[in-house]
Amino acid sequence: MRYSKAAVSSPASIANFGPGFDSFGLCLDMPRDLVTLRCAAAGTFQVKVTGRAAIPTDPLKNTASYAAMKLAESCGHEDFGFSMTIKKGMKPGSGIGSSAASSVGGALAAATLLGVKDKKLVLEAAAKGEELISGAMHFDNVAAALYGGFTVVSDARARTILQIRPPRFEVVVVVPDVTVETRRARAILPEKVHMRDAVSNLSWASGMVHAMMKRDVPAIASHLDDSLSIPYRKSLVPGYDAVRESALSAGALGVSLGGSGPAVFAIATGGSAKIRLAMARAFKESAGLESESFVTFPGEGARIESVS
Ligand code: HSE
Repeated sequence: MRYSKAAVSSPASIANFGPGFDSFGLCLDMPRDLVTLRCAAAGTFQVKVTGRAAIPTDPLKNTASYAAMKLAESCGHEDFGFSMTIKKGMKPGSGIGSSAASSVGGALAAATLLGVKDKKLVLEAAAKGEELISGAMHFDNVAAALYGGFTVVSDARARTILQIRPPRFEVVVVVPDVTVETRRARAILPEKVHMRDAVSNLSWASGMVHAMMKRDVPAIASHLDDSLSIPYRKSLVPGYDAVRESALSAGALGVSLGGSGPAVFAIATGGSAKIRLAMARAFKESAGLESESFVTFPGEGARIESVS
């Protein structure tokens, strides 16, 4: 073991980012989870959770500890043991990649203790943590939380992740007081989609990648549409259409659903305070829902805060 203690902060992210179902991810500057891992006797695993959410403390049911165990396993470290503290900065089931943030934090902290430098191993272990919660192995949130910026899972089988440095813009995130389980939000999606919907998404997704590379914020905003998941999922987010309209009327450049919801996000280059208020008010007036909201920016991925 190289070190005995490592602390990693790992950020929220927006999966799908409009048309990129299971492919696009935007890393957010905040909120972040803080995962601290201390070496313990081989085979001993303990988890403590603090901060703003109750998540499982059973090491086999907690995404961060599960990802840390998977990372050690993948490198042949059967002698690994740890005590982990997770300070949750975000609420699970809110659509901003809470489980991915914890999974990436756990996997990267374990990699740091074990002297593992290969980020692909961290990605793989974190995706296993994500799978534990959502029932499916998808890399969009974990890639964004690990690498930062805008990420594209261009080949999930080969684990190929493209990284694009996005321009700076405001991201207004409003999380209504309903929980959407990713597992359920995936289960309501159809097995087959219309060719015209697939073609629309191909066009929007291609436009999004070009807009990101050109660092063109209005073009990013105009490629946020989606025909493959949001039309089915918005029934899980009461007030979605009204909130979307309110954000656009208040000056947002574009609006979409965060991951599998219920977070709704808007992007803007000014006026975010007004947009945030309008969206929160629309949730209240159209659906009777209280909400939490914040304004952030595209951000950097998980980072090692301290090691000793
Ligand atoms: N791409 C995943 C989904 C993200 O939309 O189901 C879940 O956080």
